[in-house]
Amino acid sequence: METWLLQTQSLCIVLLMIAGIYSRYNRVLHVRIMSLAMIWDIILILQIELSRSAILKASRAVTNAMALNVHVTIAVTTVVFYGFMVYTGRKLLAGDREIRRKHRILGYSTFTLRLLTFATSFWAVVPKE
Ligand code: HEM
Repeated sequence: METWLLQTQSLCIVLLMIAGIYSRYNRVLHVRIMSLAMIWDIILILQIELSRSAILKASRAVTNAMALNVHVTIAVTTVVFYGFMVYTGRKLLAGDREIRRKHRILGYSTFTLRLLTFATSFWAVVPKE
């Protein structure tokens, strides 16, 4: 798949997350937007993996292997953080007020990581064969 199509989706996911943070006090909307963003992100990773086995190919083709490793590591960490968001978010919905601060800090960290994933994806572009 064309790189620009993947990166446009990536940008849309970042924009969705901004909308989700903006609507953080509207629980129904917040949960819907964030779930959509996270599911779309996982579908995006699958598209990259399936359409060109990106990591394997890119690790051979890309000139700066270290930059690619940094990108992949940040991207994987972001998905791990999605797990924390669902866990703490569900607890919040169940009425646990203590976990709110944790959800907030993890939330802004997750968003920062997702922004970094987008920014570093420009290092990971596979050259045309
Ligand atoms: C990447 C995903 C997510 C991010 C970045 C995020 C971020 C945030 C932030 C910044 C807040 C405001 C906390 C505060 O100011 O004290 C918040 C509130 C909240 N989030 Fe999330 N969140 C995410 C996913 C989720 C998910 C998956 C759920 C539920 C399953 C959820 C449920 C909630 C709830 C219930 C609140 C409290 C809203 C209220 O005050 O009524 N969040 N979230």
